[in-house]
Amino acid sequence: LDYEVILLAAGQGKRMAASRNKILLHLIGKPVISYSLNTFLSDPACKHIVLVAQEDEQELLAALVKKETKKKKCHITIVSGGSERQYSVYNGLNVLMNLENIVMVHDGARPFVNLAQLKSLHRKVQETRAAILGVPVKDTIKRVIDGIVQETVPRETLWQIQTPQAFYAKDLLAVHKCAQQEGYLGTDDASLIEKYSHLAVSMVLGSYENIKLTTPEDMLIGEAIVKRKRS
Ligand code: CTP
Ligand code: MG
Repeated sequence: LDYEVILLAAGQGKRMAASRNKILLHLIGKPVISYSLNTFLSDPACKHIVLVAQEDEQELLAALVKKETKKKKCHITIVSGGSERQYSVYNGLNVLMNLENIVMVHDGARPFVNLAQLKSLHRKVQETRAAILGVPVKDTIKRVIDGIVQETVPRETLWQIQTPQAFYAKDLLAVHKCAQQEGYLGTDDASLIEKYSHLAVSMVLGSYENIKLTTPEDMLIGEAIVKRKRS
């Protein structure tokens, strides 16, 4: 079963504190968004890319997409985002080709997801209906209230969650509608599945390289990752 992807690029990139949206910043010669766009384009199972973008950046992104898709036959749609990530995903869900399809949701600010990870996520979602990428937490995590440590959270069961996250489109649309009705905002798509459906979400081991570029130092780490991949 093929899949469609909602590729999120409609944020502001405020914490990056750059002069433009971080997904357009250049990372060793290419805009950040091009990396994940190309990875999805290289996956034969990916049949439709929905690029969610701010209105005033759509023209620029359309030109970029045109360049990247010259020889590839993947369908690409550009739609407008919303004021919150969750609303941007919802706008993407509304232009999918077929709600019977699998949908992956991916942060455009995560350039380093690779084809092997897409394939294992795709395999898993077909088995279990909901699957997400992540890695075990490396640091010690404590719960802190008013500057005072309350407890050390046992680390063995803690994972850092990444994207892509994969679901059946109709399942994801249903839980987004529930969240909208209650005015609930989740920090990722899986949290809506957890809250509003009975589906169990499967964890797929990603990689510590699949970082989200969030603050300025992340760009330096990103450059190092690109260089290592090239050497
Ligand atoms: N995103 C989106 N629509 C929004 C908010 C975020 O499509 N209303 C996208 C971003 O473009 C990014 C991804 O969701 O690819 C993850 O969000 P985040 O890292 O928080 O990006 P920004 O919201 O752009 O950054 P910040 O929170 O620092 O402003
Ligand atoms: Mg944000």
